[in-house]
Amino acid sequence: MIIVKTRKELEEKRNILKKNNLLHGFVPTMGALHEGHLSLIRCSLSNDPVTVVSIFVNPTQFNDPEDLKKYPRNPEADLNLLEKVLRTGDLVFLPGEKEIYPEPDHRIFDFGILDKVMEGKFRPGHFNGVAQVVSRLFDMVQPRNAYFGLKDFQQLAIIKEMVRMLNLPVNIVPCPIIREPDGLAMSSRNVNLGKKEREEAPMIFRTLKEAVSQKGKLPVEKVKEWVISRIENNSSLKVEYFEVVHADTLQPILSWDEPGDKQGCIAVWAGKVRLIDNISFSRKKE
Ligand code: PAJ
Repeated sequence: MIIVKTRKELEEKRNILKKNNLLHGFVPTMGALHEGHLSLIRCSLSNDPVTVVSIFVNPTQFNDPEDLKKYPRNPEADLNLLEKVLRTGDLVFLPGEKEIYPEPDHRIFDFGILDKVMEGKFRPGHFNGVAQVVSRLFDMVQPRNAYFGLKDFQQLAIIKEMVRMLNLPVNIVPCPIIREPDGLAMSSRNVNLGKKEREEAPMIFRTLKEAVSQKGKLPVEKVKEWVISRIENNSSLKVEYFEVVHADTLQPILSWDEPGDKQGCIAVWAGKVRLIDNISFSRKKE
């Protein structure tokens, strides 16, 4: 693999790829890599002649300065991991802040209703920051395919909308959620969980699965209440929101009879660590 740190170096490599007609796939990350990230990378490795992975902890998407400070950073371990999976010609882009934001980004994106609910409601400005950095990265990397995890269900919807709005020639590829053996969705933030929080955190997905089996038996509101109280039975867990939404518009459903795919999305505080997860209420099994 080749490590590039500046925009200029990246452009040079990208132009060589273009000259050789090599279309590339792109996996943007904030590092502290785990199997979830690696699954996206493996997907690109099997689809694209060249894979580009970026590692950049984007300050503009952190609405909470404390969260930015505590965000795990482990560049050496990340590079060791990438060394094992990437091929000789694949690229790792490790930019500093000035490479991405030579001057502050004042753009405000209008995602309509998509960013007014769930993460958008509880983390104001978060998706605007995600759109700022991902649009800049797309501009620099110019990939054919870009891979995003379904773990961040709303982020995926926002990225698809951004690509549509800006008319970008990038194909967005959604990838399944990778979980620990006990069901906890893998996340860079999991390393910050204390012992008790880590023990209780798998209740989140366990409860989501049980909620799916109650679909149609109880009204939506009752299922929502049940999920919240069952998770909060664990003393270290506090639910910030649980919504069952239309998978495409992200608007909450009022009844199971409404047509279309439905997704249950949740954010839970496990002590001081904020965890998110989601599940399909339409597909047979997760
Ligand atoms: P980060 O949290 O590092 O995640 C990078 C990518 O990995 C995202 O597409 C995310 O959905 C995916 N991912 C994380 N955990 C996963 C899991 N358990 N299973 C499957 N995929 C998983 O998301 C971001 O970074 C940033 O917002 C970014 C898009 C890089 C912009 O800064």
